[in-house]
Order: sequence, then C-alpha cells, then structure tokens
Amino acid sequence: MGGLFMCGIIGYAGVEPAAPILLDGLERLEYRGYDSAGIALAGGLRIRAAGRLSALREKIPAGSVLDIVGIGHTRWATHGAPTEQNAHPHRSDGGLYTLVHNGIIENYEALRAQLQAQGVAFHTETDTEVVAQLLEYHDTGDPLATLLAVLPLLEGSYALAVLYAPRPDRIFCAKRRSPLLACMGATGALLASDAAALLPHARSLYRFEDGEAAVLSREGIVFYNGAGEMITKKPTEIARHVLCADKGGYDHFMRKEMAEQPEVLRLTLEPLLRGGEIHLGEGEAALHDPMAIDRVLFLGCGSAWHVGTAGRLVTEELTGLPCAAELASEFRGGRVTVNENTLVIVISQSGETADTLMALRLAREAGARTLGIINVEGSSIALESGSVIYTKAGLEVAVATTKAYSAQLAAVYAVAARLAQLRGSISADALRGYLHALALLPEQAEAVLRDTEAEALAWAEEVHEKEHVYFLGRHTDYAAALEGSLKLKEISYIHAEGYPAGELKHGTISLVEPGTPVVAICARPEVTPKTQSNMEEVRARGARLYCVTNDPAVTAHRRILIPKTHPLLGTSLAVLPLQLFAYHCARLRGCDIDKPRSLAKSVTVE
Ligand code: BG6
Repeated sequence: MGGLFMCGIIGYAGVEPAAPILLDGLERLEYRGYDSAGIALAGGLRIRAAGRLSALREKIPAGSVLDIVGIGHTRWATHGAPTEQNAHPHRSDGGLYTLVHNGIIENYEALRAQLQAQGVAFHTETDTEVVAQLLEYHDTGDPLATLLAVLPLLEGSYALAVLYAPRPDRIFCAKRRSPLLACMGATGALLASDAAALLPHARSLYRFEDGEAAVLSREGIVFYNGAGEMITKKPTEIARHVLCADKGGYDHFMRKEMAEQPEVLRLTLEPLLRGGEIHLGEGEAALHDPMAIDRVLFLGCGSAWHVGTAGRLVTEELTGLPCAAELASEFRGGRVTVNENTLVIVISQSGETADTLMALRLAREAGARTLGIINVEGSSIALESGSVIYTKAGLEVAVATTKAYSAQLAAVYAVAARLAQLRGSISADALRGYLHALALLPEQAEAVLRDTEAEALAWAEEVHEKEHVYFLGRHTDYAAALEGSLKLKEISYIHAEGYPAGELKHGTISLVEPGTPVVAICARPEVTPKTQSNMEEVRARGARLYCVTNDPAVTAHRRILIPKTHPLLGTSLAVLPLQLFAYHCARLRGCDIDKPRSLAKSVTVE
C-alpha cells in the first residue's frame, strides 16, 4: 500500500470478463483512497494510472479485456508519490507474482535491503513491492505455501490479493489487521476490502480473521489457517438498508446523506426507544451490575470523538459519574488506567479505524467492560467490542460523515439515559421528559434541514472566500462547535477551529480581527448567557458574528434559529445548519465534496 492511509482492494475469479467487475468494485471503494488505481489480469495484462479511477477507465476501452480472473486497487499514497510507477498492482522482478495490498509493511526497508543484496531489482518507492519480490525469491512452485511462508517475515498490516502467473485461474489472498471480505457471486468468487464492493454480487459475506488465507476460483473459495490447514467459515448476512449507494438525485453523496438524517435517526432510535422504555438489546450487557461502574470513557477518532465529547457531557449530567472522551490515538500513547469498573464506549462509523480498534484492544486487555456504537455490521471493532449497538445509517459514502455522526449521537443519548435509569440517578419524570425530547429529534431534524438551508447558504456566500473561521460553544455546544469546524475544514479546506467559548480570551482571541467570521452555538440554555458575553468580546474586536441558537433573544450579525429541545440534546439540531454551511462553502469553492483531498473514509492503519 505504501503509506499512512488506506486503500481498497478487489479480486474476481469467475466466468465473466473481470475488468468491468473490478472497475465497478473500485468505483465503490474509491472513497477509501483516490491517488492512483490499477488492475491486473491473470493472463498478464497490468494497467495502472495516477489520479482518479476515471483515468484508469480511459485506459481500458470497454470489451477490450476478456480475461476472467483479476485483481484491482485504488490507492492512498504516502510511501512513494502518487505516480503511475508506484501504483498497484505490483509485480515481482521475474513477473511470477502480481499483487495488490492494503496496509503497511513496517519492516519493508530491511527486507528490501536483504533482497537487493541478493541482486533483486526494485522499481518503486513503495513498501508493498517487497512482498511481491519476497514471494518470487522464496517461490516453491506452490503459491499458497509460498505465501504462507513469506507472511511471517512481514511486520505490520496487510490485506493481500495475489496472482501467480503459472496458475491464471485463481487468486490467493491473506489478511492481518486490514479488513478483507469474500463472497460467491452469481458468476464467480470475489474478495474486497469492504462490503460496499461485494454487495452488488451477494448479501452473505465471509469476513477474514487475522492470519487467515484463501484461494479463490470460479469453482469457489477455499479458506486456510496460517498453517495451511483448510478451515470452514460461516458467512454474515448483510442487511438490505446497507445497499443503497447512489446520490438519489443530489449533486453529492454528502448532501443526500445529510437529507437522510431524519430517517436514520428514526431507524436508529426506533429499536432503542420502544414503548417509552429504553432497550439497548445486546448493548445492555455492558451495563450489567451498573452500580459497580465508577467511570465512563468514550473513545473514537475524528467525528466519532466529537460524538464521544457530547456523550461524555450528557452521561456526566445524567449519571453523576466521572466521564471522559479521549482520542483513540492518544489513549494508545499513555498509561492505561481503565479497569473492570470502567465502562469504555468505542464509537466508529466504519468499525475499522485502526487507532480505535487498537485502543479497544488495550481497554479490553485491562479488563474494562466495553460497548461498541458502530455503523458497519460485522466490522472488526463491532466483533471485538464484547457488546455492540448498531446505528442504522446504512452505507455512508461521503468521506465527511453526517448521518452516521447523527445516528451515533442518538445512540449515545439512549445509553446515557439507560445507565442513569439503572443507577437510579434520574427521576422517572426527568427520564420521561428526556425520552420524549429524544423521540422528537427526527421530525425536528427534518424541520431544521428544511428551514435553515437558505440562511446557511447566505452565510456561505459571505464566508467561503475567508481563510479562517472560529466556532465557539460551551459544554454540549462546544461539542457542536468541534463538529461544525471539522466539517468546514474537511470539505472546504478553510482553516477552522472549534473552541470552548470561555477559553478564547486566554489566547486565541488574538487571531480575531475586523471581519473574522466567528460562529457561536447557543443551544444549551444553562450556558448561553456566558457564551453571549464571549460573543461580545469578539464582536468588540470587529468579528463578524454568526449564531446557531434556539433562543430568540440571542442576537448576531446573522442568526439561524433552531427548535428548542432537551437542554442536553441541542448538539443534534445545532450541527445540522453547520453541516449545510460547510457544504455550501465547499460547493461555492468548487471542492470535491465527497472525496476531499488527503482524507479517507476510514483509516485502517495506525
Ligand atoms: C476519518 C473520517 O478518516 O475517520 C471521519 O474521514 C471519521 O469522517 C474518522 O470521523 C473516524 O472514522 P470511524 O469510521 O472510526 O468513525
């Protein structure tokens, strides 16, 4: 794979021409990385192109390639520039092995030097090429045995799909840490990095565990363990609502997915709030012996961490327990202080983010009780969480999350209330009021998306050429400020900071000058007066004030009024106009909204 980010791999061994099937699969994987792409067919043809998949498509005229076995790759580059030379598939010196890879070979330099000392010539700057060269160097004539012999030499993570020239009718694959799935479609066997690429072919998918390998051919898929012994695997059925992967008439997946939020909130809350009661299903297990829980820790990355930040505040308010929200990558850097009395809640859309997966493993090793709030069914984090609550956001294609974020937040609200109920830290009346407000969120979200877009667009028209924007909020409004600023950064490349409103005067206010756009969020009545005084501090320095609030008394240069809800649930409604604002800023700047530069939908390497 070469590099810090991740890629998408695909393979097909069947009776139909492989190229169109591989290209369609890569289209569905492109949100995982889009610096270069390539395919290789078992007959020997290898075609690669730098840049988007469309550049590769131009090189493969329809019907020109009839080979029925092949592998493909869409890349995210750091180990080696995003050039055609460094694009996958990579081929060994003598052409015996050709492969695609998702992950990082951490000891590639040492392995490369050893092979170069044996006279092996290298042609790329990538870490992946060393795997192809190692396979040829150690070839025994039995490609599966060779693969299983070479894997222990590799440090790091990989999902590999390998072609062996003397056996053009099959694909060999193996996995450690990077996700890999396979299925039997109507015309042949397929493998891919995630379900999105396989769902057009089958609904029951095989998920590889670490150390497993397989051989794919049109006859079927044979699975092996690391010792080369045949194993049987049970497929997972993927739910229908995950299927839809088109823009539904919108210009961008992101805008469609924003519009799906009311329905996604309904689908996610429906099983959790049946008959005015909270039902966490499998998630209930993590709350056993509730009085023994003495601390709650939320873990996640990116927007998932922002959900954790709001979740921490709501859970603290409802339970009175000390709560924290930590970045998974930072949790991994320090001393692990969780124990069997800590409830660790890990949040992830993809369920494959490596930092979050590793943090979860550390928490479980330390004996913590763990609960996953995950969107992708059967994903690694979901399978390893012990107990899991699935959000019902369906397939989220846009790299910048919206509907999965909103669904995660709704699930966290239910978990917080259930823990408070079990610990008796909330009265029946207060709980009823909270659950009533929670159940109203879907229709309120519908109204907010409908009624605030025009004003959000007007903000964007004023701001989209600016270089810096500050988002301010206190408590749960600060959580909304974090997410609003991330959305703007992710898709419009405008520098933005989500800032605790009260902290601004201790330093960052020095950056505010006449005309600087400052977006304040005032959806939590308890802290709104304080945030208003912070708004006055920046107004006094000439800032142009924008405000999202549910309090008609709050004034600003431009304001978006949202409906009132429970004081702890305001984040869910406040982020919606901030998503719209970011979307229109990016649209007015002509940015690639669904596939922003340097980002990926889920980062499966550390
Ligand atoms: C980033 C995505 O790569 O990972 C963000 O671009 C996301 O949208 C973050 O919030 C965490 O991903 P996940 O899948 O663990 O929620």
